[in-house]
Amino acid sequence: MRYASCLAVSDHQTESDKMKKTIITFWLIVFSVAVIQSCKKDKTDTPDTSPDSDLYTEMTAGGFTYYQGGNLLTGDPQSPHGSFRLRFNAVAFAALDSTGELPTGSSFPTGSVIVKELGSTVNQYAVMKKDPSNENAGSGWVWAEFYTDGSASFSTIKKGDGCISCHSGTPNRDLTRTFDLH
Ligand code: HEC
Repeated sequence: MRYASCLAVSDHQTESDKMKKTIITFWLIVFSVAVIQSCKKDKTDTPDTSPDSDLYTEMTAGGFTYYQGGNLLTGDPQSPHGSFRLRFNAVAFAALDSTGELPTGSSFPTGSVIVKELGSTVNQYAVMKKDPSNENAGSGWVWAEFYTDGSASFSTIKKGDGCISCHSGTPNRDLTRTFDLH
């Protein structure tokens, strides 16, 4: 009899242990789901800015050649950029002809970087990089604008929204405008 009641007590404890475990497991799941949700939220709230800093690093590296000897050119009335100097990385430069222009009808190869230095003392950069498989490419190019401290005034993640409509105006050469205007 004593033995039996003892068993009953221990059965009872096991049940309440099970109950505790169930409650703990339940709250662990709730907690985990909450953590996962907040991580997901962090990801969408904080855009990945590394594509911008990668491009900024690339365009401030050496190996560029200036258009028209690095003369300060007056921005065309249809351009929002103002006076500028233009430079090409080696990949882009190789596509230019003996007059230093991209021939009408040709395209820049993948890896071409074109940097427009804005202002007589450079105060901002406008950049195009030919990289059609880049997740931020718009019409085959990655588009950005930077302040001289490297922060983006127009991020690559915008995929050229606001740039392409004007750069596809007539005439253009592979979406570049300079060769027909300067
Ligand atoms: C309203 C028209 C317009 C808009 C919008 C515009 N651009 Fe331009 N862009 C031009 C013109 C015109 C030129 C040719 C040079 C000049 O006179 O400024 C040019 C030149 C450039 C060049 C040098 C290569 C070339 O096309 O000759 C780069 C790089 C550039 N723009 C980047 C950008 C980026 C990045 C944006 C968007 C943030 C942008 N542009 C928005 C009109 C525009």
